[in-house]
Amino acid sequence: MAVRIDGKALAAQVKEQVRREVETLSRQPGLAVILVGDNPASQVYVRGKESDCAECGIRSFSHRLPAQTSQKELLELVEQLNQDAAVDGILCQLPLPEGLNEDQVIHAIAPDKDVDCFHPFNVGQMSIGAPTFLPCTPAGVMEMLRAYEIPVAGKRCVVLGRSNIVGKPMAMLLTQADGTVTVCHSRTPDLAALTREADILVVAVGRVGLVTADMVRPGAVVIDVAMNRNADGKLCGDVVFDEVEAKASYITPVPGGVGPMTRAMLMRNILTAARNHGA
Ligand code: GUN
Repeated sequence: MAVRIDGKALAAQVKEQVRREVETLSRQPGLAVILVGDNPASQVYVRGKESDCAECGIRSFSHRLPAQTSQKELLELVEQLNQDAAVDGILCQLPLPEGLNEDQVIHAIAPDKDVDCFHPFNVGQMSIGAPTFLPCTPAGVMEMLRAYEIPVAGKRCVVLGRSNIVGKPMAMLLTQADGTVTVCHSRTPDLAALTREADILVVAVGRVGLVTADMVRPGAVVIDVAMNRNADGKLCGDVVFDEVEAKASYITPVPGGVGPMTRAMLMRNILTAARNHGA
């Protein structure tokens, strides 16, 4: 039976550490949060991030914009926040409503305020191991592995999913930690043959029931990044939890696993931004 990795408890520790360090700064750090439109999941995520800020002593500046907002108005807001000395980090919640260009917005955010680590400059910095913000979800996964003393060096790591936000940066961080990494995706034939090789399996696809026990090597570490709703409307990941829990050595629950860690890593990035800005 696997050990359940308690993301919620670990995130609370990270946030407490951030809060203590924020107290030592010469001014309060600030996060600007942009939410365009009324995607219900995004509203929940954004409220969570704002409440984390409050817990950590970080100011949050909320910018709720209607779905009809134009690209030009959105870019003007980003530019205004780039210039605002009280704003250390800018987070534009994705996805944006139909018709708005996400890439353009990501490019417009000043790299020193890009606490999501989505800007190509920061993605490049991360890919060569240069100092930068770390992408929140993959960094949260690495922090979980560290906290539970799960070694990565020399291990076979398989990442399911190749998104810019999770799969690709996850593969980079695992590689930097000396893992041997395979990235699988929707066009990968015989997925199960590859996932069965994994000592560490990170799943970030977004399909309920994707990973079953027969796809997991006995004793593997299984990290479920996904956040889905099943047929009953209950939150769940991509991993069939009960049967995989019986086979794995460590497993992350959904909810209460990777999600809270993602948010905690965002708080750490805001602290880093504020320090870089001389706070
Ligand atoms: N949408 C889903 N995850 C994220 C995230 O980490 N940051 C932003 N800005 N939008 C998201």
